[in-house]
Amino acid sequence: MLSALVIRNLRNASKLASVAGPNSDRIVNIKWSDGKTGEFPLIWLRDTSPDAATYTISPAMTARNLTMLEFDVEQKAKKLWIDESGDSLKIEWESGILSTFPSEWLQIRNPSDQEARKRRRKVYLFPEETWGKEEIERKLKRFSHEEFMKNDRVVHDFLEAVCIDGIAVLKGAPKGVKGAVEDIGERTGMIKRTHFGMVFEVSTKADASNMAYASNGGLPFHTDFPSLSHPPQLQMLHMLQSAEEGGNSLFVDGFHVAEQLRVENPEVFRILTTQSMEYIEEGYDVHEINGKTVRFDYDMCARHKVIRLNDEGKVNKIQFGNAMRSWFYDCEPREVQNVYRAMKTFTEHCYQPRNVLKFRLEDGDTVLWANQRLLHTRDGFKNAPGKSRTLTGCYFDWDIVKSRVRFLRDKLSLEQNQPSA
Ligand code: OGA
Ligand code: ZN
Repeated sequence: MLSALVIRNLRNASKLASVAGPNSDRIVNIKWSDGKTGEFPLIWLRDTSPDAATYTISPAMTARNLTMLEFDVEQKAKKLWIDESGDSLKIEWESGILSTFPSEWLQIRNPSDQEARKRRRKVYLFPEETWGKEEIERKLKRFSHEEFMKNDRVVHDFLEAVCIDGIAVLKGAPKGVKGAVEDIGERTGMIKRTHFGMVFEVSTKADASNMAYASNGGLPFHTDFPSLSHPPQLQMLHMLQSAEEGGNSLFVDGFHVAEQLRVENPEVFRILTTQSMEYIEEGYDVHEINGKTVRFDYDMCARHKVIRLNDEGKVNKIQFGNAMRSWFYDCEPREVQNVYRAMKTFTEHCYQPRNVLKFRLEDGDTVLWANQRLLHTRDGFKNAPGKSRTLTGCYFDWDIVKSRVRFLRDKLSLEQNQPSA
């Protein structure tokens, strides 16, 4: 991967003009012929040197040979120079190792270039683009299931849309045929197994293990499994048998609602970003494993804030379930009333028409969404005689989905591709 990148890089690099340093901060200053400059930490150049002594590059891995225990973080360069063609920076280290940094290798990683820094952040596939009803109705991406199954570019575009919009749809898998979730799971990477098994079925059942299975009624807006300390980050549902009437899917962008509250109701925002709720889920579910029926008993318990902020104060998780909320043990009793008021206001915002995306999954349609960002629900439904509304579903985590997007960007040489090292 590294060599392919280097070859590709050389094609449109501008020439290197000069190198100076390292200075007393151990910074190497580089100038390009187009006037661009870069400040590169010397020790970082040693650490990332694209050579066979520093990296082991094989089809199955690209890994660093250096170990911190032996790595001399004060090591010096014997000599630094630009080669005659101006195509690369050469560094001969005290240890005798010779590093060659192609011009564009340095340009892509230039710490002094704000564009390069911004591009690098995108390797994490954020920030998301949050939405209200109008925006998402305009931009919701729909792809063909058949194309997804045979065309890598569609897999990339579908998963990338989920990273950005938090939701995307696959249309038209063969109707009434089981296995679509497993097939999509395999193309995506790895399904996340939970206490509901690998692939679960949503239909009205006797002995329901979940409120969604208990009746044909509507559900309240929720994220799945706040009873887990690491709730699934993505959820997928595939419509096997739709209802005769109703059973529409509804979504709201919880990040967007949280930002509305930050502005329109700061006190509610404060409460929901500081107070934790405890979520309990007890019961059992029946899984099919290798053709055998296995009962799995569970007693799940986790605590979450409804709105979680990251270190930069940005909203980065929403957890909100209804059926299994419990205890506020670290909250002053007189605060609890205000927490309920805040949750009520949050819910009312979720239901505001300006925020809600509503559509119907037809037989063979699949929706994948960010479970810790979007809240979801369905409205009540009526079955056709002799037919029972049935969905199959599964969960994923971001690591697997984003890994697939990055892998495909590299494989398909897409312009969003990022250097791997
Ligand atoms: C669920 C759920 C939605 C639906 O099972 O958690 O939200 O459309 N189901 O039945
Ligand atoms: Zn749900």
